[in-house]
Amino acid sequence: MEHLGALLLILTCVSRLHSTEGFPKCSIEQFVCNNGRCVHLNLRCDGVDDCGDSSDEISCFNCTSGSFHCVAAARCVSSRSICDGKPDCSDGADEQLDTCAQTCTRSQFRCTDGRCVPSSGRCDNIKDCEDGSDEENCDDNECEINNGGCSHLCIDLPLGFMCDCPSGMRLVQDTHCQDMDQCLDSDVCDQICVRTNGSLACECQDGYVLTAGTGECKATGVAARVVVSTHEGVKWMDLSGSEQRNITYKRASSGPVSALNANNTLYWIIPYSGIIYRMSLDSSDHRPAVLLKASTGILGLAVDWIRELLYWVSTSTHALHVASLNGSKQSELISGLSRPTAVAVQPLLGYVFWADSAVSPRIERASLDGTSRIALITSSIRYPVAISLDIPRGLLYWADSGLRIISRVAFDGQHRKTVVESNGYLDKPFGLAVFESRVYWSDQLTNSICSADKHNGNMLQVSQRLGSVSPAGLVILHPLLQPSGNDLLQSETRTPFPDSQFAWLLSLTVIISLLLVGAVLWRQRSELCAPRSLSPLGDETLKESQDPLLLSRLPVIHEHKDGTQNGSTH
Ligand SMILES: *[C@@H]1O[C@H](CO)[C@@H](O)[C@H](O)[C@H]1NC(C)=O
Ligand SMILES: *[C@@H]1O[C@H](CO)[C@@H](O)[C@H](O)[C@H]1NC(C)=O
Ligand SMILES: *[C@@H]1O[C@H](CO)[C@@H](O)[C@H](O)[C@H]1NC(C)=O
Ligand SMILES: *[C@@H]1O[C@H](CO)[C@@H](O)[C@H](O)[C@H]1NC(C)=O
Ligand SMILES: *[C@@H]1O[C@H](CO)[C@@H](O)[C@H](O)[C@H]1NC(C)=O
Repeated sequence: MEHLGALLLILTCVSRLHSTEGFPKCSIEQFVCNNGRCVHLNLRCDGVDDCGDSSDEISCFNCTSGSFHCVAAARCVSSRSICDGKPDCSDGADEQLDTCAQTCTRSQFRCTDGRCVPSSGRCDNIKDCEDGSDEENCDDNECEINNGGCSHLCIDLPLGFMCDCPSGMRLVQDTHCQDMDQCLDSDVCDQICVRTNGSLACECQDGYVLTAGTGECKATGVAARVVVSTHEGVKWMDLSGSEQRNITYKRASSGPVSALNANNTLYWIIPYSGIIYRMSLDSSDHRPAVLLKASTGILGLAVDWIRELLYWVSTSTHALHVASLNGSKQSELISGLSRPTAVAVQPLLGYVFWADSAVSPRIERASLDGTSRIALITSSIRYPVAISLDIPRGLLYWADSGLRIISRVAFDGQHRKTVVESNGYLDKPFGLAVFESRVYWSDQLTNSICSADKHNGNMLQVSQRLGSVSPAGLVILHPLLQPSGNDLLQSETRTPFPDSQFAWLLSLTVIISLLLVGAVLWRQRSELCAPRSLSPLGDETLKESQDPLLLSRLPVIHEHKDGTQNGSTH
């Protein structure tokens, strides 16, 4: 340290020598600082260190620019530092002025002379401040400048202004209007929600049955299984957790896990080796096969069941990678991420989503070729660790282990909502999955597998306590979780669709028409799609949507889902 000090001293001396010699002489309108720099005379004694060595602020007797003369130090204190609660004069005189005596409360207005009067007296044509400052600036129309910062309507008030929205939209973050979506906002339906004459009715995708009297959709066919990776190998259990089996034995795999449901094949990672394994649950030979050697630090894994691709994110390469499900054609899709932790893919819409948890935590979306990148979530997010898609509803769920919450958002970044808040079982989440009406997660602090209502976090269930075994990745196995485009097209002819589903069905229909009829229809397609491009889905970052639960702790809208059948919900 001493050497360093001496060195710095020498360097300082050298540079000072250099600078006094090298600087041009100061002009007559300039003050010569002790360090040789020239500053304009106006800047002398204004309470701000313009020289860099404060020499323009010493020996001051006439302070300029409304700054305060600090007698004890023979220097000036800038006007902004007066009465700011921090003494800038050695004797604290800048905080002991008469005008500092009063700090006005929220319901008071601070007169220019520092006195406080009731806010109700502002702009009422009666002088309450001795200097009349409570009646000044009353006619300002804040809406004239930049529409007051409002996205839609700006209403000028006698005092201040407020933003408002046209009907059918609601105000978020006090300034921005967002389309209201009765179906998403009310959360009555697990899947398809149909608006008719101001009421809502629920329906389910093919393969699910609607539970009478509720909006719940139950999957038919084989029983779903929850697959969890642990440091003792991969295990599966049924949804309630009553039955549990080992899939692999004694092979550490405390990383993410994913599945190709159609082939009953699991994919997982041994994190420290960077090896991705594959195992078919159909074959009698339950030995995992090495699929490929990737990099270390892989925290997220996802299967594109349509194109048969595997996506993963790595904290050591800071990138999103993709390879064929047979292990060939590895490539880097998106690079330059900070600490990517999770990935999910919606191949029917052509979206890949990922979470980044360092520098500026966020959730982003891109096309499957890595273009059209959009940030969906950038605020009120601390440490996203897992993402999972609710494909029938077009929602992305994520777990934030920093905020200890599970939230969801539509694929366009709107309609954000927190559904599960810290409840003693959400302290160190790792894996996340959404199925039927519930959201499932693994928690590494309590070593448990939990689930709750996907709309509001109600009815928490701890389905498995794994004792000393720490669960990591989690995936639910059920063929309906990875629908083919055909299944969904069949349901289109049956029912009207909410906007988000309609959007991609429209695209699918269009693509098929193209194949059938040929390029002649291309122009028609542009016409068809044109109105949709008016939605805020551009290439630039979307405006943040507000999460009412996060910001104002509003009560969750509903607990029971009655009334959806007779359509009484508004
Ligand atoms: C301070 O200002 C007064 C009046 O403007 C002037 O007479 C006096 O010389 C100034 N003092 C200094 C130190 O600049
Ligand atoms: C919706 O309203 C229209 C006209 O107001 C009416 O004809 C129709 O029967 C209503 N449909 C339902 C399902 O109530
Ligand atoms: C699973 O494996 C662990 C150790 O690897 C063992 O203790 C446990 O009993 C096994 N469970 C079942 C259900 O076979
Ligand atoms: C999945 O199964 C289908 C049909 O048997 C087969 O064509 C395909 O190659 C399999 N995909 C993988 C990745 O094993
Ligand atoms: C892997 O799959 C790709 C298509 O996805 C195919 O072109 C390639 O031949 C396959 N490689 C092997 C070794 O099967």
